[in-house]
Amino acid sequence: MNVDFHCHILPCFDDGSESAEMSLEMLAREKEQGIDRVILTSHFYRRHEEQSHFLKRRQRAFDELRRAVEKSGMDVPELKLGAEVAMTRQLRMEDLRPLCIQGTQTLLLELPFAPVGPWLNDVRAIIDKNTVRVVFAHIERFRDVWSKRDFEEIMELPVLKQINTTSVISDGFFRKRQLMKLVEEEKVHILGTDAHNLTKRPVNMGKAVDILVGKGYERQVRKMMKTAELIS
Ligand SMILES: [Fe+2]
Repeated sequence: MNVDFHCHILPCFDDGSESAEMSLEMLAREKEQGIDRVILTSHFYRRHEEQSHFLKRRQRAFDELRRAVEKSGMDVPELKLGAEVAMTRQLRMEDLRPLCIQGTQTLLLELPFAPVGPWLNDVRAIIDKNTVRVVFAHIERFRDVWSKRDFEEIMELPVLKQINTTSVISDGFFRKRQLMKLVEEEKVHILGTDAHNLTKRPVNMGKAVDILVGKGYERQVRKMMKTAELIS
């Protein structure tokens, strides 16, 4: 099964899809690109919102999307609710299971776009508590934010790491080579489009998979898809 593990397709919910029509078009692209399951990982910022409020709001957006799908008669991939949970202190104190991908204990965690600081201890505490299975969102995007040493230290943490398909496609020569090494050595484990719309941040799984397979990483791609399937 092919899974898009990270996207912002719920309509009018975050900085992703701007309408139900756009969401349907994005889902059509997912289907065309051979995706069987889409995890709807809308942004959750605990600093700004209570979990309960987020969950109610998300359910309303999901109901709207389901109605639009039914009305259109389209054949879309399996849809599962999730969240891209931005790391913040409060999370350490809270039960994070309601934010996991529906029916699982898998939590997509977005680390801070800031130099490593005390937040790393909070991340470690969440991992050590072991009530959820943490996946770090688009880990490769932090290469510019953290020192090389911090990046390597965080890569050693015993959690799964997701990468964005756009990085596979658009990274420059040296960055791409670095990313391919992580793929080759299986230090990154899951692919997600992080699609937000139809233009600048589109559904582009097909192109990324073609590139990876072209470079000889078909086995790693299959493994990444399998991992995503098993934990979602
Ligand atoms: Fe995202």
